[in-house]
Amino acid sequence: MPKQLYIKTYGCQMNVYDSARMAELLAPLGYAPAATPEGADMVILNTCHIREKAAEKVYSELGRLRVLKEEAKATGRQMLVTVAGCVAQAEGQEMLRRAPVVDVLVGPQAYHRLPEMIARATREAGRQLDTDFPPESKFDHLPAARRPGGPAAFLAIQEGCDKFCSFCVVPYTRGAESSRPVAAVLAEARQLAAAGVVELTLLGQNVNAFHGAGPDGAPWGLGRLLRALAAIPGLVRLRYTTSHPRDVDEDLIAAHRDLPAVMPFLHLPVQSGSDRVLEAMNRRHAAADYDRIVERLRQARPDLALSSDFIVGFPGESDADFQATLDLVERTGFAQAYSFKYSARPGTPASALPRQVPEEVKDARLAALQALLQRQQLAFNRASLGRRMAVLFDRRGKHAGQLLGRSPWMQSVHATLPERLFGRLVEVEITGAHAASLAARPLLVAEEALPPTGVVRESPRPQA
Ligand code: 5AD
Ligand code: SF4
Repeated sequence: MPKQLYIKTYGCQMNVYDSARMAELLAPLGYAPAATPEGADMVILNTCHIREKAAEKVYSELGRLRVLKEEAKATGRQMLVTVAGCVAQAEGQEMLRRAPVVDVLVGPQAYHRLPEMIARATREAGRQLDTDFPPESKFDHLPAARRPGGPAAFLAIQEGCDKFCSFCVVPYTRGAESSRPVAAVLAEARQLAAAGVVELTLLGQNVNAFHGAGPDGAPWGLGRLLRALAAIPGLVRLRYTTSHPRDVDEDLIAAHRDLPAVMPFLHLPVQSGSDRVLEAMNRRHAAADYDRIVERLRQARPDLALSSDFIVGFPGESDADFQATLDLVERTGFAQAYSFKYSARPGTPASALPRQVPEEVKDARLAALQALLQRQQLAFNRASLGRRMAVLFDRRGKHAGQLLGRSPWMQSVHATLPERLFGRLVEVEITGAHAASLAARPLLVAEEALPPTGVVRESPRPQA
């Protein structure tokens, strides 16, 4: 009987990637993925510390796990509880003290050491803690063979951040900015493509700061890396996230212009439209810089759709500052976006700033911003009505026969399709547009004419 491993992932896509790598790492130890924590031999919470709410959720989950762990013990089984990710990194010893249910605590840069830590914890050699930033890279110690769960996969190319935005914990929990060598990235990408992956999302906390060493030791930028990835047979869709406006360079813009594989969608957080607030956030760009970058990107790729992150209620944010954010949203036009109330994070410079914004003001600003962003998202989706596009269907819908996928512009698309199209790129026509999703019908040629792999009738790009 394989041992049951349940992993719960919070937060960003980097955590989703790390969870997949942890599962791959533990498979040789006899752990098979489980869908629920009930009956699991090992539970991993891969945690997020970015906002207060995210961190609190971990402690409530640990409360529930305590009950399961005691039930397991009563029936003579052992259930190990591991906390990984940024809460583990930030809380360290404090978490071991506060949550006795935790057996193993491991930071984002040390999880390649999990097998050893688990072995020790199983032998009841005591609780294990490792929140080092080890000199060796975890990537050199993870299994080379990836087991992608479908046609779309993540690939971490860069980690950490040196930007030190004044609100953000990432530079502390994920550590200094570092890029993987180009050869390692290309090898992992080829391996994923050989395993059937057609859509690759490159990940990094500051992904476009990528400067991995090329074969001759000289650093490559993200634009150059995208060119090399686009040349790998099978990889027909490339995405990358999350980017910083400061690191959008000419070569990256040119990659959007030249490479059809680079999808016409970019998540480019701006956080605020007010220069005063951007300065206090230590963002190192002004609102006009963002406008300029967006303009250049759209010149390169006219159908580019944008997404962003916003924080409302940053300390000292006035009504006029907030209005500047609404203005930026109005003039930019986003296909989707994430917006958050500012949440003071321990140890960050902004948490010590005077003039914290009252909760009810934050609530009102968030509601106003989200209403505007939702209007823009609906308008963007409505503009897709009647268009043809290729959709990668990689999830099952709620209804029988319904498959879910993503458009090139990251819209969620559902359609009733034959099961054999699961995991394929299919050309569809958009027949319905909602706030957060599109409905589509497949444009299929005679069934016999369908190729066994690849795109099922790829259409030309719609005009913007
Ligand atoms: N409070 C609110 N939102 C935050 N983010 C990061 N730190 C904070 C914070 N302290 C948001 C930013 C970032 C996204 C991942 O989370 O918008 O881009
Ligand atoms: Fe955090 Fe700023 Fe780095 Fe993004 S760029 S991870 S917001 S410090």
